[in-house]
Amino acid sequence: MYLDMDPGHDDALALLVALASLKVKGVTTVAGNQTVDKTSRNARRVLDLVHCENITVHQGAAKPLFRSLVTAPHVHGSSGLDGYHFRVPAREKDIPADAQQWLEREFSQDPDDICWIATGPLTNVAAFLIGRGEYIARIKQLIVMGGALNQGNITPYAEFNYYVDPDAAHWVMMQDIPIKVVGLDVTHQALLEPNALARFSALESEMGRMLHDLFAFYFKHEPNRRPQGVPVHDVLAVGAMVHPEFFSWQQAHLMVERCHERYRGQMTVMPGTANPSTEVAVDVDTVRFFDWMWSMLALLQRKE
Ligand code: BDR
Ligand code: CA
Repeated sequence: MYLDMDPGHDDALALLVALASLKVKGVTTVAGNQTVDKTSRNARRVLDLVHCENITVHQGAAKPLFRSLVTAPHVHGSSGLDGYHFRVPAREKDIPADAQQWLEREFSQDPDDICWIATGPLTNVAAFLIGRGEYIARIKQLIVMGGALNQGNITPYAEFNYYVDPDAAHWVMMQDIPIKVVGLDVTHQALLEPNALARFSALESEMGRMLHDLFAFYFKHEPNRRPQGVPVHDVLAVGAMVHPEFFSWQQAHLMVERCHERYRGQMTVMPGTANPSTEVAVDVDTVRFFDWMWSMLALLQRKE
């Protein structure tokens, strides 16, 4: 399984849960929550902290397809992963800026169908497939964290990942790829409760300390925090890959607004026949999802 991400607090947690539940073949990084040098460094540091030095990180797009980059320091801080002081040495020099070439090499040699999870702006995914349409038929499943049917988090209309690169998001939504879209409609249902901080600490490991400190920051900054908790958007994308039965899905033909600045990045359902290959999550069993997430963290801890 391939991961494309922009860590980011929830991306970092998603990465850990993916390591426990899937065979992660590598990570490509994209600009989004922070600039791509920072999101790449963050991915590398999280992997190293849990002793997954063998999983490679490949730096991808530094900006959206056609627009200037918008980042989210108000949510993730100036490093993209504020809150925890990484004691592991930074291995930036081990991060090649070769995401497109690496994906091509991997996909062309991989005997398996392609399973892909994208938890940042869809720039890398679109840029790759626009030039290499032959791989579209090989994609068994693409899970995307992004969009929303009836709400927004960066504007009243748009979710952050789709807002940052609406051109990439729209292009991907238009393709005949088996896509599952995990948007704010479900990520705003699944709130990580404040007692999670104590549960992270109780793991009594460096991973637990990292998660505690990262999420102590995130609990103060996530714009949709509620007294009940904070959304952990990207973790639900991993959940959707491993346990699609935790979710209710609706087939839809989706488009993403690119022209009207006010509605930039808004995801809408086009009238008429639904695209049978595109499904949007409309509901999630939050109890089963969080039970699974905690069990995956415990499993990763044992593997460490
Ligand atoms: C998405 O935006 C980012 O800030 C998060 O990492 C998540 O991927 C939620 O809108
Ligand atoms: Ca993200």
